[in-house]
Amino acid sequence: MSSAVITAGAHPAQTDLAEPHMAETLALLGLAVEYVRAEGDTLYHRDDQGGERAVLDLVGAFGATILGHHDPDVVAYAKSLLDARLPVYAQFSLHPYADAVARRLNRVLEREFGEAEPYFAVFANSGAEANEIALKHAELDRVTRLADLRESLRANRARARTALAEGRAALADDALAAFGVADADALLEAAERAEAEHLSAPPVLLALEGSFHGKLVGSVQLTHNPSFRLPFSSLAARCEFVPADRPDELARIVQGARRTVFDFALDARIIRLVERDVPVFCAFVLEPIQGEAGIRALTEEAARTIQRVCASVGCPIVVDEVQSGMGRSGSFFASAGIGLRGDYYTLAKSLGGGVAKAAVTLVRASRYRRDFDLIHSSTYAKDGFSTRIAGKVIDLLEADGGAAYRVAAERGAALMTELRAVQAEYPDVVKDVRGRGLMVGLEFHDQTESAAPEIRERADMFGYFASGYLMRAHAIRIFPTASAVHTLRFEPSIRLADADIARTGAALRDLCGVLRAQDAARLLGL
Ligand code: F0G
Repeated sequence: MSSAVITAGAHPAQTDLAEPHMAETLALLGLAVEYVRAEGDTLYHRDDQGGERAVLDLVGAFGATILGHHDPDVVAYAKSLLDARLPVYAQFSLHPYADAVARRLNRVLEREFGEAEPYFAVFANSGAEANEIALKHAELDRVTRLADLRESLRANRARARTALAEGRAALADDALAAFGVADADALLEAAERAEAEHLSAPPVLLALEGSFHGKLVGSVQLTHNPSFRLPFSSLAARCEFVPADRPDELARIVQGARRTVFDFALDARIIRLVERDVPVFCAFVLEPIQGEAGIRALTEEAARTIQRVCASVGCPIVVDEVQSGMGRSGSFFASAGIGLRGDYYTLAKSLGGGVAKAAVTLVRASRYRRDFDLIHSSTYAKDGFSTRIAGKVIDLLEADGGAAYRVAAERGAALMTELRAVQAEYPDVVKDVRGRGLMVGLEFHDQTESAAPEIRERADMFGYFASGYLMRAHAIRIFPTASAVHTLRFEPSIRLADADIARTGAALRDLCGVLRAQDAARLLGL
């Protein structure tokens, strides 16, 4: 293991220069291996004799390999693209293959949501970027609506002022009281001042507690975990986090952040003040099944409430399907299963078939701002390779009437049955098993009160030590998430075999035995 400490003046030959402290952490957890080959749900690394050791990979590239590592059809297609010398980068030219991907995705939206309205596609390179594109577009839409509102308020004020001056209209009886002023001039002035203040208010973003939407400067503001987010909070707009199990809180939060202004309406020689909503809400971004939070599915009821409250204030909904999409939940979009409709959908991870970095943001056509085509761009996004791979992945998922979705649901159910059996045998160790399709979580009881001091002291990283044990003792690769350290997250591919599930069950029973005995030496390899 290389040292991460660079001594002054010494050539750092023994030091990792790429993320210098990561190797130390991996070594501590027993996860410091280099994988040299990957196929299906298996990763291979070298053992001490130089041979290959096969590891069952239940991490599934954080959910990016729904078809497994090196799916033969994806690999053959990728090779054919390179052999054909198809341009990978030909920016600012026609990209009919990107259009073809958007059309395929629209067909899926139509089938799963009964959606008649088309969605336009903006391509990206990662999940965080796809979410930031959604945010950026939603903000362009918001400031454009704001400018329209400003213009119409200004015009109506001018009309009212002229009508009053020419004696063609009178103020409604209650108009002066709204601002507590004495005459029409003071009223017009006060309304203009209030408008200037409310229309320049910063946008409000909304997300769910436990959310994960990426770690770039914008998307990290929507990521709930404070250790990821707080150091950077001054770099982007404020986000309000809504508890997913108390969606009624959303109405309170929205009410608190809502801003209105008075418009002057002239009707039958009377000028009335009409309250109008200022578009302060940029977007509500949410995952239908939270991954990083330790596999937490949004309920239909919560989805309905969110939809209703957002509609009442014209706040667009961004459905982040970066992890839950591409069939993992048993349908292409996990949100379809709970009736959650997005104005935006973001996709990444498995869209690249495990070989490309592909991501896309879908925008409801009626919201789409045509300027966006020209004011947003990326050197790599929408490239000829990753976009065509995305098209191939969708074709493979959609083949045989969506057989892959049925397999994901069935394999996920089989895995969950096995994990529930483990829970039934070790209820003192396993607290919960939950999930949908191939997004499954197994939560251990909190170890912060463990009788074994070595376990207790490591409780804030507990799941990672459990991972280290499963890796050492059973050649199984499985991780918790940084935001749910007592929950192991299972996101294997649709190739997961019965034997893999049985092997997983046996390994977990062994781990549960170690935990029941509070055997720190075995768990930690001390
Ligand atoms: N949205 C969701 C729901 C995600 O799970 C992730 C990443 C992202 C966005 C960001 O995507 O990494 O391509 O920029 N999730 C990983 C995880 C890191 O561990 O679940 P990215």
